[in-house]
Amino acid sequence: MFNFSFENTTKIHFGEGKIAALSKEIPANANVLFVYGGGSIKTNGVYDQVVDALKDHIFVEFSGIEPNPKYDTLVKALPIIKENNIDYILAVGGGSVVDGVKFIAAAAFFEGDEPWDILAKQAPINKALPIGAVLTLPATGSESNIGSVVTKDGNKLAFMHPLVRPKFAVLDPKVTLSLSERQVSNGVVDAFVHTIEQYLTYPVNAKVQDRFAEGLLLTLVEEGEKVLQPEYNKDLEVRANIMWAATMALNGLIGTGVPQDWTTHMLGHELTAEFNIDHARTLSIVLPAVMKVCKADKHAKLVQYAERVWNITDGSDEQKIEQAIAKTEAFFVAMKVPTRLSEVDVDASKIDTLVKRLEQHGMTQLGEHQKVTLDVSREIYQLAL
Ligand code: NZQ
Repeated sequence: MFNFSFENTTKIHFGEGKIAALSKEIPANANVLFVYGGGSIKTNGVYDQVVDALKDHIFVEFSGIEPNPKYDTLVKALPIIKENNIDYILAVGGGSVVDGVKFIAAAAFFEGDEPWDILAKQAPINKALPIGAVLTLPATGSESNIGSVVTKDGNKLAFMHPLVRPKFAVLDPKVTLSLSERQVSNGVVDAFVHTIEQYLTYPVNAKVQDRFAEGLLLTLVEEGEKVLQPEYNKDLEVRANIMWAATMALNGLIGTGVPQDWTTHMLGHELTAEFNIDHARTLSIVLPAVMKVCKADKHAKLVQYAERVWNITDGSDEQKIEQAIAKTEAFFVAMKVPTRLSEVDVDASKIDTLVKRLEQHGMTQLGEHQKVTLDVSREIYQLAL
């Protein structure tokens, strides 16, 4: 195992009715910016619960953050923050709202010319407004991590900083009941791929991280397949297990002390930026091809994955790996997400553009060994056709 320092300071309030807890988490004298997305919270009761919990606070609303949050939308919050002396931001929504709020929180104190430099130039962040989150879509882990992904003019870029980690997050599985089947599937698949990207590299004898990761993968497969069945679709225990698994998949715990490989995400981000494909659906398309192209480097962990997650114990290593990749694809099919670019109308003629975008964004040495060059990325996209 590699050396590491681990900290996760986000306080989690988990369970039905927990939105009320935010009234005590946000300082009584704070001027709060209550931020949300396109309005789903107004039809599922979440907005009313938040307003009720904020009844003794001074707050201003900022809404309209879209999926894959756009820079141009987010910067509109900055003058509102100044005018209202905002000193706390509450994000209510999915990963896009939480990511958008992280950017706003850092941009509020940005001293350069253009806050986009936080992403484009990874400009230093010295201060950020404190953030709280009410999560409505379990998927990204953004509610308790330090990452944020923002899009501007077809460039989907990420930044990370401990100052934007939410102080607290409310996870009420009941609020996920209003999600569409597509969003539920997307969430399960996103969390599954987060786990894989911190697990499917090479062994460093990190038994705790490996077994936690395998536990998350097993949970996501079991509960993911269940949640799409009519008899379990509204089951709050299933929803709770998915929600907690998604948070644990990207809160830093399973990624400490181990190599990581974010190739699938980086190649996926270009697909979303270029073709507006849902984030998780880019991952289900790219991951199987990554597993195939990077098979040699991932050999030992692929065998472990086959044995421990898919219970494949017969046959040669090569056969186990083939079957594990096939099982992964079958799981994605069962989750009703695409596994080929052809399913989302992207053909071979688009690959040059995608590879050029990767180059522009400095994604030229991806993977746990930095061996995923632009040529290897091209091979991955081609295999995913
Ligand atoms: O905008 P509203 O009206 O809230 O509707 C949203 C949106 O249309 C809707 N929704 C959310 N909760 C709902 C609901 N609809 C009904 N009932 C509810 N309870 O779902 C739609 C999608 O929401 P979004 O926030 O975009 O989804 P998700 O949570 O999957 O977030 C995706 C974003 O997170 C980034 C992705 O790249 C993408 O931009 N990621 C962030 C990461 C991080 N910060 O660590 C890691 C991830 O891998 C990912 O890259």
